[in-house]
Formats: sequence, C-alpha cells, structure tokens
Amino acid sequence: MQTIKHTLIGPIRQAVTMTGLPLKGALKDEQLDIISEAGILIKNDRIHQVGNYWDLYPEAQSIGAEMISLKGDFVALPGLVDCHTHICFGGSRAQDYAMRNAGKSYLEIAKSGGGIWDTVSQTRKASLEKLAQLTVLRANRHLKDGITTIEVKSGYGLSVEEELKMLRAIKLANENTIADLIPTCLAAHIPPKDFQGTNKDYLKSIADEVFSILKTEGLSNRIDAFIEETAFTSDDIQSYFQKAKEMEFDITVHADQFRTGGSKVAVDFGSISADHLEASSEKEIQLLAESNTIAVALPGASIGLGVSFTPARKLLDAGVSLAIASDWNPGSAPMGDLLMQASVLGTFEKLSNAEVLAGITFRAAAALGIKNRGTLEFGKLADIILFPTDDYRDITYQQGRLKPTIIIKNGVRI
Ligand code: NIG
Ligand code: FE
Repeated sequence: MQTIKHTLIGPIRQAVTMTGLPLKGALKDEQLDIISEAGILIKNDRIHQVGNYWDLYPEAQSIGAEMISLKGDFVALPGLVDCHTHICFGGSRAQDYAMRNAGKSYLEIAKSGGGIWDTVSQTRKASLEKLAQLTVLRANRHLKDGITTIEVKSGYGLSVEEELKMLRAIKLANENTIADLIPTCLAAHIPPKDFQGTNKDYLKSIADEVFSILKTEGLSNRIDAFIEETAFTSDDIQSYFQKAKEMEFDITVHADQFRTGGSKVAVDFGSISADHLEASSEKEIQLLAESNTIAVALPGASIGLGVSFTPARKLLDAGVSLAIASDWNPGSAPMGDLLMQASVLGTFEKLSNAEVLAGITFRAAAALGIKNRGTLEFGKLADIILFPTDDYRDITYQQGRLKPTIIIKNGVRI
C-alpha cells in the first residue's frame, strides 16, 4: 500500500494560481487570481488545496503534514514550462555568433555550410551517454531557474540512427534529472547533406524507419519540422505530416521564422503549436486566430540573432493563445534564460504580467498537450516555485534577474 505524505507550505505573501484564465487571447493583470497569506497543501506529488494558510494549518497539523514554514516574503507560481528547446547537442557555435555579429546572416551562414549542419557534425561525434550528460546539465540549470518541465528536440542527428541516438539520449537524460523532459522528434530540421536522394526521400526514410520505433520505445509522441528556405518546403512535408497524423503523433512546426508559409502548414495539419512566427503578417495572424494552434514566441532566438520579436501583442489581440519558450540551442538562441527572455519580450511587445506568466505556465503546458500542470489548484502536479519578493510584478520588472529560491518538483523540495 502506498503511504500518503502531506506537506503544507506557507505562509506565502502572494500565490499567483494562474487558474480561471482563458487559454486564448489577451489577459489583464486584474484577471489574475492572487491569494494572499496563502498556504498550499500537497498530497504526495499533487496539489491538494490552495487557500488561506491559517485556515489550512489546523487540518495540516491534524493529519501530520510536514511543514515547510516560510520566513520572509515569497510569491508562489506554478513550476515554469519551457515548451521549445534544443538542449541536446554537442559542441558550440561561438564561431557562428561572432560571424553574425561581424555582419553575416543566419541564413548566409547556413547556406555556406555552417549553422545547424555544424552542430549536426558535432552531435554525431558525441556518444549517446555524453549527449545525455550534456542534456542533464542544461536541464538542471533550467530547473534551478524554476523550469520544472522542459521540451527537448532531436534534429541534430538527421539520419535514422543518429536521430534515434538523440531521442534515446533525451530519454536517458529524463531518467537522470528531476525536471520532466518532453521529447520531440525534429528529424525534419534541415535536409542532411550526406543523404543520397531528395528531401522527400529523406523524410520518407524517417517516417518509415523511425516513427514506429518512437512508439514502441516510448521515445516521443511529437513530430516537428522546420519549414523554411534552407530547410523543408510546404510541399516536401505533406506526406511526412500526413503519416505522422495517421499514427496519432502531435504535430508542431518551426514556422514563419524568416519567411511565411510554415504557419499555414501548421494550421492545415491541426498542429498543436506553431513556433517562431517572427515573419508572420496580418494574414498569418488571422489564420492562427481561426485555429486551435498555439503560437509560441521564442524571444531568445530574436535576441540571439538580433532580429525582430514575434508579434506577440498582435497575436494575443487577435485572440491567439501565446506561449513563450527559450528555444535554447547552440545556434540562434545560446542564452537559455527563459525568465529573462519572456520579460524582455513583454517590454518590447507590451505584454501584461498575466500574459507573460501565462505564456510560461499553463499556455506552455497546453502547447505540449499536458493537462496536469501549469496552474496551482487541486489535482495538479505539485510543481511550485517561490520567489523572494512581496510583489509578483517584480518577476518581470526585474527582467528575469529575480529567480525563485525555493523549488518544489512533484511535491518534493529540491
Ligand atoms: O528554432 N530554426 C531552426 N532551428 C532552431 C535553431 C537551431 C540552430 O541554429 O542550431 C531554432 O531557432
Ligand atoms: Fe527551435
């Protein structure tokens, strides 16, 4: 029989529960549910009750709950969700970064053989164990920043064997970190230079030889593709996504990063998310607004490349659901600081605190199709982070500098 463990945490100056908010569209700070002098009662790995600390205290005491008694002011939020990263990779692209800052563009570097292909070469040289170890190190850095759920893409293998190696490395990494890693197959990142055949032939080989193994080994239930001039066209991807849909994978797209086209593919295939969208115009925004596809802004890629941000304000005003992710990768987004990036996106795109926080909690969870986290309420996973401040607005106001000092994952303080 499983033993039941209760924990009461508090008193919390402000618990921002992120409950009762719509999945789509603009949000005002006044809509936030903020409980002052809050307590959170945890039962095993789940949230049991969120309410006034002093109301919860007697019950917690009578059932022998462990007390995490807080001294000083804290603001609680659900554990953060980073719904788009590429943290499984070997090597570095500091050389690309210097070249970009000397005036070469990301696409020029890609066309001359650098960019993503450079990381593919370095990732292929790394063993599965080494990749897992590097992924754990990066995931643990994120976890320290309060990010308790992290999506991780493959896409630097670009052959049947090397993509499987990456996804097995992500699975091994997941077993070796307290954070939850959500794997995504991005074999359709760029066409591999060493493949003999067309782009469609390559994608067919992945669909035929990788998709069923993803299912049998439990390696991923998500298929991503980069639709771009230097990657795959809308035409290339049709049968690949068709097959993915038939096999009941969730689809997600790297869309409209430099030119448009990807968001239409995303909407046509009922993708769970369309990520990037820096180049999206009114037309694409409208298309997304008429769909259930979640837009994912990746401010870290805009900062890393020195280009415009995703039109987050316009997307929200059009009624789109907006998540915000780090895109942490060695090329376009080497920083990997989600809170800083989300806060800065808020400054440039005029987002409310509620919109920024929704983008890195429940809306990001929705972009991953995960229902059991992203808010502080009964039944959700007890992933809770506490910032040392008396005002939740400090989180974006300090532009990511203020980090949580207490992190609880699955009901356990880490
Ligand atoms: O999301 N845009 C394509 N893929 C990644 C970058 C990967 C890389 O540059 O290594 C992105 O920005
Ligand atoms: Fe990406």
